[in-house]
Amino acid sequence: MSIMCTDVEAQPAGANYDESKVPQYVLPDPLTSSDGTRVDSPERWQKRRRPEILKLFETHVYGRTPEPVRRRFKQTSEDKNALGGKATRKEVTVLLIGTDDGPTMDLLLYIPNNAKRPVPAFLGLNFAGNHSVHSDPGIALARCWLRDTKDGSVTNNRATNLGRGKEASRWQIDKLIDRGYALVTACYCDIEPDHADGYKDSLRSIVCPRKSENFVKSAIPPRGAPADAAPDDWGAIGAWAYGLSRAMDYLEKENDIDEKRVAVIGHSRLGKTSLWAGAQDERFAIVISNDSGEGGAALSKRRFGETVERINTSFPHWFCGNFKQYNDNEAQLPLDQHMLIALIAPRPVYVASAEEDLWADPKGEFLAAKRAEPVYRLFALQGLGVSEMPALNQPVGKTIGYHIRSGKHDVTEYDWEQYLDFADRHFKR
Ligand code: GCU
Repeated sequence: MSIMCTDVEAQPAGANYDESKVPQYVLPDPLTSSDGTRVDSPERWQKRRRPEILKLFETHVYGRTPEPVRRRFKQTSEDKNALGGKATRKEVTVLLIGTDDGPTMDLLLYIPNNAKRPVPAFLGLNFAGNHSVHSDPGIALARCWLRDTKDGSVTNNRATNLGRGKEASRWQIDKLIDRGYALVTACYCDIEPDHADGYKDSLRSIVCPRKSENFVKSAIPPRGAPADAAPDDWGAIGAWAYGLSRAMDYLEKENDIDEKRVAVIGHSRLGKTSLWAGAQDERFAIVISNDSGEGGAALSKRRFGETVERINTSFPHWFCGNFKQYNDNEAQLPLDQHMLIALIAPRPVYVASAEEDLWADPKGEFLAAKRAEPVYRLFALQGLGVSEMPALNQPVGKTIGYHIRSGKHDVTEYDWEQYLDFADRHFKR
């Protein structure tokens, strides 16, 4: 279990878990442009509607992502004989603003030795440091700020050896290697520590978005953002997504990995992040969100489980200032999360839920995937291919994949098996 997620309850109190109390809601049509015209071709989608929807998410939900600044990459280790000889382990530091004394992100790569290179890869951020994803003692301990844990795996906000392999079940690295995929990961706290003051140690204090055209002085005092932040400046999810794109910059230079076959994946808050990264950066060939819930794959307007108000209150740093206007006011949102999934079209996307994870609203996650289908159809692609939510542990879908697994909020071996099968279908044709 992750240090960030051990205390995630399946059903925090005070939220709606009653389907009969879901309000009536209307979802905006992804295929109707703001001027009322119908989007009837892939070209019109790409040129006109896609940028319009991206802008809606930038303005109202995640904030604007700045243009990338100069970055550099430094390989710090390589072991061609890792995992009993079946993989090559590399560690690479991304100098996020190009200078040795600036912020860094430490990438960990496992590349299969018995597969034809360049190989396809899964890329995802981890919660507890690179050393937590496998018990391999050769992985460097994470250097970033981490939240203290009771078991001593993080003490005084620093990782200790007790955290080695602690999250291994969530990454299934041996399985990935055996199936011919590389794994690339970095700790999300390298980019921004996950707490309301984390922006002080984040790129968000250094790299500023372009001056906003949408600047409206916010009535809401900025918590979780620099004091001079505009209401549509990026939040932590935007910064984490930026980190994924910088990892992708490195993969474009890494000869052993095929940059055209990189799936971006994330769990929970990092599933929200993988969707936002995949929506913006079309280099991600597959996008996977595992139990991403509110602000991820789940529809906000349904008000089932976590709501906009709850997420903005508990995590004031995740979204942009403008998103707070929709606290208890989801009906006014000019978008919903089906449009985020639609931004990934025509690339394959996979949404996964867990039965006991009602806080994340499994049905809302399914419905968002379903309501993204018309955009896939525009590209003559079949999305989910079903009209009702499937039974437990029955994966469905062609270009949009979906399953609801039995059990709780987590990433399990079962989830990975579905993602690997999905990636095989799209990457190994
Ligand atoms: C909390 C939060 C969710 C988030 C989850 C996680 O439960 O309310 O929105 O997805 O943490 O990241 O584990």
